[in-house]
Amino acid sequence: MERNLHNLLITGGAGFIGSNLIRHILRATDFTGRIVNVDKLTYAGNLENLAEIRNEFGAGRYRFERADICDQEAMNNLMRKYEIDAVIHLAAESHVDRSIVGPADFITTNIYGTFSLLEAARALWGDRHDVVFHHVSTDEVFGSLGANGYFHESTPYAPRSPYSSSKASSDHLVRAYFHTYRLPVTLSNCSNNYGPYQFPEKLIPLTVLNLLSGKEVPVYGDGKHVRDWLYVADHAAALWTIVRRGTAGESYNVGGENEMENIAVVRLLCDIIAAAKDRPSEPYKKLIAFVKDRPGHDRRYAVNCDKIKRELGWKQSVRFEEGLRSTVQWYLDNSGWVERVKTGEYKKWMEENYTHR
Ligand code: NAD
Ligand code: TYD
Repeated sequence: MERNLHNLLITGGAGFIGSNLIRHILRATDFTGRIVNVDKLTYAGNLENLAEIRNEFGAGRYRFERADICDQEAMNNLMRKYEIDAVIHLAAESHVDRSIVGPADFITTNIYGTFSLLEAARALWGDRHDVVFHHVSTDEVFGSLGANGYFHESTPYAPRSPYSSSKASSDHLVRAYFHTYRLPVTLSNCSNNYGPYQFPEKLIPLTVLNLLSGKEVPVYGDGKHVRDWLYVADHAAALWTIVRRGTAGESYNVGGENEMENIAVVRLLCDIIAAAKDRPSEPYKKLIAFVKDRPGHDRRYAVNCDKIKRELGWKQSVRFEEGLRSTVQWYLDNSGWVERVKTGEYKKWMEENYTHR
């Protein structure tokens, strides 16, 4: 069964994955309705990520609304005003290191914010079945793997950071609304994303920008922690597939099937940047600095995503090295974006260019 959707509410659309998702839906799918992007514009929200989209698509296809997902009245009003028939919920505090330094915003936005959106959906939709609430979550809810094994949809939850615990909590709430109120929900738990427009606090963009400006690249602990990397456009395609065809009440794991130790990712980036600059890679590798480990650092993530492949026909399309090369090229080609993000100027850019769409 394919859902026939008209008005999407995408939360966190000014962030990394949200902006890539909006671009994907408007440019690369047969969706003809309207997307309403709801974002509070925290440090991670950058409307410049969607500047081209705003110019390319009129208000009938794309609208921006600045709001906090914890604001129940605002969420109720937006759902009603735009006659929303699908919520794709990405808004969150998303960085593990920040959750260690200050967990409060993670609890508020990730848990309470999800609750207020669920309430808004329940209030508007009643017992409708032709609608969907898709919750975007992470593989980190499953905890840390040893050398072997994979996360399956049935793996018990064992989150270990304030970030992953807050996401786990929101996942449980979403499932509770399905069981208790029959709200048509779907969930996805995805592995680490990389690609254009990622805020340079996460490993890959931080490494790229530090290497390009001759700064040290901090690698936590022994650098042998493993992540399963997925190109962000492939995640966007997976999300749209689930929203259109996923079964209500079901969770889908999404991953790159591409495990790599952090130190290997960093060394590969040194080689890619050296090749792009036509320089030797050794001077870049000398910038690698092993630093104190992250507290509670999960050792390994690896996702089994057979279910979404088998049931919904999704698969990854971008090989890791190819995706890394185009990501590096994107950061090289978008030095203005990089500069404005690094200096904090992007906040000023938003004030100057911000209109209500
Ligand atoms: P991001 O930090 O780049 O973007 C988050 C967005 O949410 C920002 O635009 C921010 O302004 C907005 N936001 C934060 N608090 C808000 C609030 N209270 N109200 C409204 N908007 C608010 O994050 P991302 O990397 O794009 O991740 C998006 C989602 O995907 C998150 O739910 C995250 O848990 C999940 N996820 C991320 C990854 C990854 O590798 N980045 C992997 C799996 C799942
Ligand atoms: P990150 O991009 O923060 O994503 P997550 O913690 O959600 O997986 O980190 C990816 C991996 O890289 C993780 O094992 C921590 C490590 N890391 C470093 O070694 N150095 C860094 O500067 C950062 C940001 C991360």
